[in-house]
Amino acid sequence: MAGSDWTCSLSAMHEWESQDYEPSLPVSEKSNPLTRDIDRASAKCIVRMLQACDAQMFQEETGATYQRLLGERVVETVVEVAKRVQLVLKDPQDSLVVLSGCGTSGRMAFLITSAFNRALRELNQSSVYSYIIAGGDRALLSSQEAPEDDPKLGMLSLKKACEGKKRVLFIGISCGLSAPFVAGQLDFCLQHPEVYTPVLVGFNPAHQARDEPMPGCTFTFRSVVQRMQELAKSQKAFLINPAVGPEAISGSSRMKGGSATKILLEVVLSAAHAATFTNTPVTHKGILQHMRAYEKTLDKTYAQTDGITALLEAAGQSLLCGRRVCYMGWGSLALLGLIDASECIPTFGADYEDVRGFVSGGYKELNNNEGPLISLGPDFCIAHEDFLHLILPSLNDQDIVLLVYTHSDDVSEVAELARRVREKTSNLHAIYHRVDGDTAAAVQQEDFNKLCLSSLKITWPSPASESLLHMQWELSTKLLLNAVSTGAHVLKGKIYQNHMIDVQVTNSKLYCRATRLLRKLSGCPESQCEEALLKAIYEVDELTVGITSCDITTHTLTARNRSKVVPLALVCLLTGCSLVEAESRLEQQPIHHFHSPFLIRLSHCSYPPRRMTSVESPAPYQLPRPA
Ligand code: F6P
Repeated sequence: MAGSDWTCSLSAMHEWESQDYEPSLPVSEKSNPLTRDIDRASAKCIVRMLQACDAQMFQEETGATYQRLLGERVVETVVEVAKRVQLVLKDPQDSLVVLSGCGTSGRMAFLITSAFNRALRELNQSSVYSYIIAGGDRALLSSQEAPEDDPKLGMLSLKKACEGKKRVLFIGISCGLSAPFVAGQLDFCLQHPEVYTPVLVGFNPAHQARDEPMPGCTFTFRSVVQRMQELAKSQKAFLINPAVGPEAISGSSRMKGGSATKILLEVVLSAAHAATFTNTPVTHKGILQHMRAYEKTLDKTYAQTDGITALLEAAGQSLLCGRRVCYMGWGSLALLGLIDASECIPTFGADYEDVRGFVSGGYKELNNNEGPLISLGPDFCIAHEDFLHLILPSLNDQDIVLLVYTHSDDVSEVAELARRVREKTSNLHAIYHRVDGDTAAAVQQEDFNKLCLSSLKITWPSPASESLLHMQWELSTKLLLNAVSTGAHVLKGKIYQNHMIDVQVTNSKLYCRATRLLRKLSGCPESQCEEALLKAIYEVDELTVGITSCDITTHTLTARNRSKVVPLALVCLLTGCSLVEAESRLEQQPIHHFHSPFLIRLSHCSYPPRRMTSVESPAPYQLPRPA
C-alpha cells in the first residue's frame, strides 16, 4: 500500500524484468509494479514513485533480461550511428538526417532537429536535420492519432522530405516498436538502400515488436525489424532499442519513452558535432560519459522532492476545482511546456483548457515547418500575448501559473509577466535553472521570489559545455512538467491503479490497449470485452453484421466522435446493464472515481482531497485490486 513512507524495494525495481511478469505484453505496455498504487498515493509518494520509475532508465545491464541504455551493445550502436551522422555533416551536399515519429516521438524529433539545426546555423553551416511528425505540425500541439496507423502516409511524407537527396540517414522513432507510420518509412528505406540508411529507436526488444497486419501492407513492424536485424550485421541498418522499464502510467510513452529518445538522439548528434567541428573523435567512453550526465540530471532534478511535491499539489488542486494550469515558458523550455500540456488531452482525457502552455515569441520561437497554426483555432494560440488577451482576464486564485525559465532568459521580462499575473492570481510558481556563482541573477531573483508562492530553483555546476547544460535543463524541465501534469491528474482521480481507463480509442494500438484493459478489469473473456467496446463505440445494445464486419480502422474512426467508450463498456461488462443505463450510472459516479475503498471525492473543492471509505459511499460496481 502506498503510505506516506513509500520506499522502493530492489525487487519491485526489477520485478517487471521477470519472464513471468505480464508475459504477453511488450515492456512498453506492461504495468509498472512500482506504481501499482499510484492512484492512492500522497503527492510526495507520487513524486518518489515517478523518480524510481525514471531511475529504471539507467539501471545497469549486468544480469538483466533486456539490453539497457548504458549497456555495451547500445553504446556501440550509438557510436556507429554518430559516425554516420558525422559523414553527413562532413559532406552535407545532397544529404539529410531525418528524424520521424508519432505523437511524443515526433515532438521529440522536432525539438532535437530544431536544436541541432540552430547549432549548425551558429557555426555558419547549412541545416542537415529534418523532422517528420505523423499528422503534420498540428500534431506538435494536439493529438492526431489516426495518421499513426497509416504506413503509406509515413512512406509518402518521407519521400517528400527527401526529394532530390542522394544520401539520407533516416531515424525512425517508435517507443513501442509499433507505429505503422514509422514501419512504412523503414520499409521504404529498406527498399532503397542506395539512398537510405535506416535507424530504429524504440524501447522494446526486437522480438516484442508489433506483429499485427497493417492495412494494404505485406509487412508488419516485426518483419521490418527482422529485416533490419539482418542488415545490422553488416551495418546497413541500425537498431537502438534498450528497455527502460514500463511507464509509470501504463503505455504512456510520453514519459520515459520521450525522455530516453531525447537522451539517445542528443548523445548521437552531439558526438557527431564534436567529431566534425572540434575534432573530438566519437568514442565509447565519450558516449557513456554523456549518458551519465543525463543520469546526474535526473538525480539533481528529483533532489527537489519538496519543491516538486508543492507544484504537483497546487496543480492537482486547480484541476480538482475545474480550474487551469498554465505553463509560461521561455526558449526551448517553453516548448517542453507546450508539449507536456498538449499530451494531457489524449493521456488523461483532459480538456484543452485544463493544462496549457505558452511560449515567449510564439511561432517565431517555434520555427516549425508549417509556420503559425493560429488559423486552426484558439488552442493553437501559444504566444504570451495570447495568454495575456485570452486567459489572464479570467484567472483567479484557483488557477495555477507556472513560470519556466533559465538565467540566460530575459529575467526582467519574466518579472514583468509575473507582476501582471499577480494582479489576477496569487497562485504563481516558478521553475528556474541557474548556474553556480551567478550572483547578479541571484540578487534579482530575491525580489522575484516574493512574487511567487513557490519557486523551484535548480543550480547547475558551471558547465564544460553550454550546449550540454542546455540539454540537461531541457531534460530536467521535461521530468518536472511530466511529474506535475501526471501527478495532478492522478490526484484528480483520473487513474485507476496505474491505468488510464478513459483511454481514447483513436488508433489500432489504443483499440488493443482498451480491449486488454477491459479484460483485466472485468475478468471477462476477450471476445466479450471487444463486443462491449464495439457496442459502446457504435452506441448499440446489439451488434449487427454491418458492424462486426468492419475493420479496426473503421472502428477507431467512429470512436473519434464518441466519449467515455471504455468506461461505458466496463460498466456494461461489470453489471450487465444496457448502454443507456451505463451512461446514467457513469453520470452519477464516473468510473475513475472508483478507487474503492479509497475513494477520492471530487465533488468538493477542498484540498488535499479527502480519501473516503467505501462505507461512506458504496460503489454500485467494484473494480478489482490486487492484494
Ligand atoms: O497513439 C498515441 C501514442 O501512444 C502517443 O501517446 C505516443 O506518443 C505515440 O502513440 C507514439 O507511440 P510510439 O512512439 O510507440 O510509436
